[in-house]
Amino acid sequence: MQQWWRDAVIYEIYIRSLTDGSGDGVGDIAGIRSRLPYLRDLGVDAVWITPWYRSPMADGGYDVADYRDIDPLFGTLADAEDLIRETHEHGMRLLVDIVPNHTSDQHPWFQAALAAGPGSPERARYLFRDGRGPDQPPNEWRSTFGGPAWTRVADGQWYLHLFAPQQPDLDWTQPDVRAEFADILRFWLDRGVDGFRIDVANGLAKHPDLPDIADPADHPYWDRDDVHEIYRSWRQLADSYGGDRIFVAEAWVDDPDRLARYVRPDELHTAFNFNFLRCPWDADAFRSVIDESLRSVHAVGAPATWVLSNHDVTRHPTRYGRARTVRVEPNNAPRVPVDIELGTRRARAALLLMLALPGSAYLYQGEELGLPEVDDLPDDALRDPVWTSSGHTVRGRDGCRVPLPWQGTQPPFGFGPDGSEPWLPQPADWSTYTVEYERTRPESMLSLYRAALRVRRSHAALGDGTLTWAPSPDDVLILRREPDLLCVVNLSAAPFPLPEHQEVLLASEPYQDGKLPTDTAVWLRI
Ligand code: GLC
Repeated sequence: MQQWWRDAVIYEIYIRSLTDGSGDGVGDIAGIRSRLPYLRDLGVDAVWITPWYRSPMADGGYDVADYRDIDPLFGTLADAEDLIRETHEHGMRLLVDIVPNHTSDQHPWFQAALAAGPGSPERARYLFRDGRGPDQPPNEWRSTFGGPAWTRVADGQWYLHLFAPQQPDLDWTQPDVRAEFADILRFWLDRGVDGFRIDVANGLAKHPDLPDIADPADHPYWDRDDVHEIYRSWRQLADSYGGDRIFVAEAWVDDPDRLARYVRPDELHTAFNFNFLRCPWDADAFRSVIDESLRSVHAVGAPATWVLSNHDVTRHPTRYGRARTVRVEPNNAPRVPVDIELGTRRARAALLLMLALPGSAYLYQGEELGLPEVDDLPDDALRDPVWTSSGHTVRGRDGCRVPLPWQGTQPPFGFGPDGSEPWLPQPADWSTYTVEYERTRPESMLSLYRAALRVRRSHAALGDGTLTWAPSPDDVLILRREPDLLCVVNLSAAPFPLPEHQEVLLASEPYQDGKLPTDTAVWLRI
């Protein structure tokens, strides 16, 4: 069987911000359905949709109250089924987001746990513990969003939440937790989804004693060995559907060899490669991240993946426009100055680099328009729980989640019906970032994305496989894909003469006299 996922280009749909079909200011399934022709024409192979389940939306849907139904904000289960079918009719596949580390505090299980009291089987599904003393939580763990990772309930016990207090962590040693998620996976596989993005895939297994964090090499909750057994059982389940249903792990694991353990042959298919996303704009850094990524996953027979942006990090034209490009965390004060022209130029080159690498790639909605991070949202517009959990010190991730501009010259730019108000305000000057504006301009980011995806699809050298580095000066990358393609990226300060070639397939900027300018990439047929 052809393993479609080994070189697929997958487009992340952050559902709240793609398109609002109902006019309530929030993106929804009707909106996605209306954009399927756009996505097909863009040239992506699949879409991944962020959580659409019933949710109180304390964390934009990553707090799930019912995994088997759609939140009314987004539509109905019937709408979801129609979307799955129509996505397939448009020749694309569809992945959904599964959130197994925690539920919503409004989930019937958590409500039952609160009602049943200490020592009950209902509480055993979560991580309830007594405090260390009066007013003292069971340990010193901190929530990823800021503040303590424990919240006390009325009877005095505390429950663990590695994220917001509205996201209690499940106890994955409990057989009924495992059985429930196997059943949820089947529920969606039966409805035809092509796979799952696994939220916080490296967090499900906790140290049985929940100790304070002493030894970083034996972290009490991130990337513990016990997590792999869960994914082996999930792989068996997915394989029982015929072999082309896949998993991609969201696992922020720094060591590439540790990350590769998630994609061993009997575990998950792929995992996001965040070391590539975090890589600064520097040739040596790119070379070593690329080599390490390929070496580690190829050792276990898995394809590499590449990603530049998602709904949790600062958009990459903004990142690359900062003096220190390693910063990926959502923007907080003090703001770092951005040269967006520079960042955009580098983002164009980064796309050609990413799409020339062996493996599959993930795009985040809006990057094909070159959208920058919106880092001047008014305080009272912010919706990310990070803003409140951090005591209003970290502004959070809303700046990369602003609803997409599609057409026209003023908000809502076709995101929703005229007169509707998007859930986050769009910058008034986004009229030159709309699909309508960019579609007809050959120099636009959208035109570059379309061309690159077209070439990638038709050119045998691109996609899965291996690469070799051709000799080059230190700050120029020249990578070769067999049989006949070179990708050259000039990160040096001076123009770089193009190597000998038959044809220029695509360049990220116009150039003259056979010389590639600074921060420019090109694909050559040799
Ligand atoms: C993942 C999601 C993020 C969410 C968190 C908690 O990191 O990508 O958006 O806030 O998990 O579910």
